[in-house]
Amino acid sequence: MIYLFYFVVGFTGTICCDRSGIRTDVCIMKGDVRTNSASSSIFLYKNTNGFINYVSSMVEEKELQHEKIRPYTRKWETSVMDTIDELDLVVKKENETANHHCDVVHDVPAVFFSTGGYTGNVYHEFNDGILPLYITSQHLKKKVVFVILEYHNWWIMKYGDILSRLSDYPPIDFSGDKRTHCFPEAIVGLRIHDELTVDPSLMRGNKNAIDFRNVLDQAYWPRIRGLIQDEEREAREKLSLSPSSDPSFKNVKEVQGDQSKKPKLVILSRNGSRAITNENSLVKMAEDIGFQVQVVRPDRTSELAKIYRALNSSDVMVGVHGAAMTHFLFMKPGSVFIQVIPLGTDWAAETYYGEPARKLGLKYIGYTILPRESSLYDQYDKNDPVLRDPSSVNEKGWQYTKTIYLDGQNVRLNLRRFQKRLVRAYDYSINRISQNCHHQSQ
Ligand SMILES: *[C@@H]1O[C@H](CO)[C@@H](O)[C@H](O)[C@H]1NC(C)=O
Ligand SMILES: *[C@@H]1O[C@H](CO)[C@@H](O)[C@H](O)[C@H]1NC(C)=O
Ligand SMILES: *[C@@H]1O[C@H](CO)[C@@H](O)[C@H](O)[C@H]1NC(C)=O
Repeated sequence: MIYLFYFVVGFTGTICCDRSGIRTDVCIMKGDVRTNSASSSIFLYKNTNGFINYVSSMVEEKELQHEKIRPYTRKWETSVMDTIDELDLVVKKENETANHHCDVVHDVPAVFFSTGGYTGNVYHEFNDGILPLYITSQHLKKKVVFVILEYHNWWIMKYGDILSRLSDYPPIDFSGDKRTHCFPEAIVGLRIHDELTVDPSLMRGNKNAIDFRNVLDQAYWPRIRGLIQDEEREAREKLSLSPSSDPSFKNVKEVQGDQSKKPKLVILSRNGSRAITNENSLVKMAEDIGFQVQVVRPDRTSELAKIYRALNSSDVMVGVHGAAMTHFLFMKPGSVFIQVIPLGTDWAAETYYGEPARKLGLKYIGYTILPRESSLYDQYDKNDPVLRDPSSVNEKGWQYTKTIYLDGQNVRLNLRRFQKRLVRAYDYSINRISQNCHHQSQ
């Protein structure tokens, strides 16, 4: 099926659309491709010599082929697809007398996609956008121009590090840039495999989720190196201010040396709904077990490189089910991810984060809370289906799930119960660390 598709797109002068996926449509245009943002169109001009000329003049059609597409990866969700700009892809006869010039000539392919829809939520940004962009464009080895519908400057800023690892060229704002851009090829729409993952069996060169993570690592390294250099400079300045015999400095040094040998645990903290209300006690317990603990509170404006730095240097990540769990993508393969699963969120927690985390090679532990650990326990009768049978409540519809379980629930961890998971994660991390040291010393 896929091989056939690649074979067919070999023909220039036609549009070939693969509409077989449930998540996305992808159309490929090869030949003389020109943008026309005023009419939300991409034209493919076909040379009208010889046979084609004869046939088309017989039917007297100006349009030889016409396809419509909304280049966004949530095809099955009509309500959000309706908010995405629709593109007209049109094959036209080349007309020597008409003047369709190019304002900008590109000699590499374009990939067209939308950053509208659910963009603004980090899960959707990675799942619907960044991962599909990697899947669709990585084989072009940065020789590709991204043309973006529903373009946002903040998105370009937020994902600039990653975009520059996927493309050597500045992205184009499709509707904001009225010039005619000409390309030898256009891929319209993004391919997507499954939730937050890359399926190697569908990739050229069998690229997988770890290869995607390696792109992230390269993307964030320059920024992180800059942060490290800043900190080292600050530390040197402090050192030169304090007398070298200052005993307090020596102390700090020793504590840091000691800290760096401990496994590191990051808590991705939420406030508002699905917060851990006894988070301070959790931190204390984790420290008592032997972890070095960092609490990270990501929000829409957090710099991703800083979150990457925290997670790339940690052994265990703990968080309550929600979009921020998307950051498991920043954990090193082989590290531990403990997802706290509030009442009524089992399916989503497993589907969106548990399963994809395993595919990245993380050790995944799902911690399904007991009714007593939910803030809903104080609000509902002990026999209420909200506590006893969440799936029956979820069956009533998304609005129930959202209001009751997602927006209306906090977690008060039973620390004695949770401790078992943390100790497991600690032992596992200690083993890994000592194995790594062993390898390095050999
Ligand atoms: C070619 O372009 C000219 C000028 O725009 C137009 O008058 C003519 O109808 C076009 N011919 C075809 C076959 O489209
Ligand atoms: C992530 O951690 C690995 C191993 O600890 C390190 O080699 C790499 O440079 C780190 N990446 C970044 C971007 O800091
Ligand atoms: C969440 O934290 C942010 C920043 O720390 C704060 O501005 C905001 O008011 C908090 N929201 C809630 C619901 O506590």
